Amino acid sequence: MKASVVTGATSGIGLEIARTLLRLGYRVYGFGRDFSKADINHTEFIKTVCDLEDIDELTNTISGIRKWESCIHVLVNNAGVGYFGPHEQLNAQKIRTMVAVNLQAPLILTQLLLRDIKKSRGYIINISSITGKRVCAHGCAYGATKAALTHFSNSLFEETRKAGVKVVAIHPDMTKTSFYDHLDFRQGDIPESYITAKCVAQAVETVLSQREGTVVTDITLRPQRNMIIRK
Ligand SMILES: NC(=O)c1ccc[n+]([C@@H]2O[C@H](COP(=O)([O-])OP(=O)(O)OC[C@H]3O[C@@H](n4cnc5c(N)ncnc54)[C@H](OP(=O)(O)O)[C@@H]3O)[C@@H](O)[C@H]2O)c1
Repeated sequence: MKASVVTGATSGIGLEIARTLLRLGYRVYGFGRDFSKADINHTEFIKTVCDLEDIDELTNTISGIRKWESCIHVLVNNAGVGYFGPHEQLNAQKIRTMVAVNLQAPLILTQLLLRDIKKSRGYIINISSITGKRVCAHGCAYGATKAALTHFSNSLFEETRKAGVKVVAIHPDMTKTSFYDHLDFRQGDIPESYITAKCVAQAVETVLSQREGTVVTDITLRPQRNMIIRK
């Protein structure tokens, strides 16, 4: 059975991607801190409690998985955190958390698993954001972590394409998940004003369904209507 690692698999986009990978026949090591909110029960879904901010915990968790799995075929770097507002109103802790979860963890996980993924001619799928592609006032730091993740994806594809590795950056716009629970804005109420987590998971399925030799390196998903509601 092919094995995959999905970070942020306890809710939202990561949980839907995990469900899709299970349907496609993958074993899924789903990373997160709190699985009580994850409505998923499947023998091949391995709940992997890991705080991505903690480099030692991350490294030890991957070492544990590599004892069981001879190869990893798919890594989905999905976990992410967003703090928004004028940059002077953020604080050092929030900035550090965004850099650690959104950027440092994907870079480290990729480094730890790259030899395996080369062996399997597999996939590294990074869930970036539309904010990584365009100016994001009141999200300067968040957008910077996502722009860096996209840049990393593009460069890593050039570095590893000869070895058969597929590196993909997916850029969702506003997606209806609990990402906005702690924020002072949210997507609009009408379905045309947001993407769903299932749409992002479908994009992952599209990436995985290409013939060997064709690589989808970049997907952007935008809602038909542009609406933001202040809470
Ligand atoms: N929602 C949007 O509008 C949108 C748009 C573009 C891009 N994105 C990106 O999509 C990704 C998924 O977001 P979402 O919308 O699905 O939000 P979400 O429902 O809040 O999910 C975030 C996930 O990240 C995990 N996570 C956060 N901090 C972590 C940590 N320190 N260690 C381990 N796991 C951690 C959470 O798990 P635990 O809390 O259980 O640890 C959760 O599973 C993020 O990278 C986000 O930036 C979202």
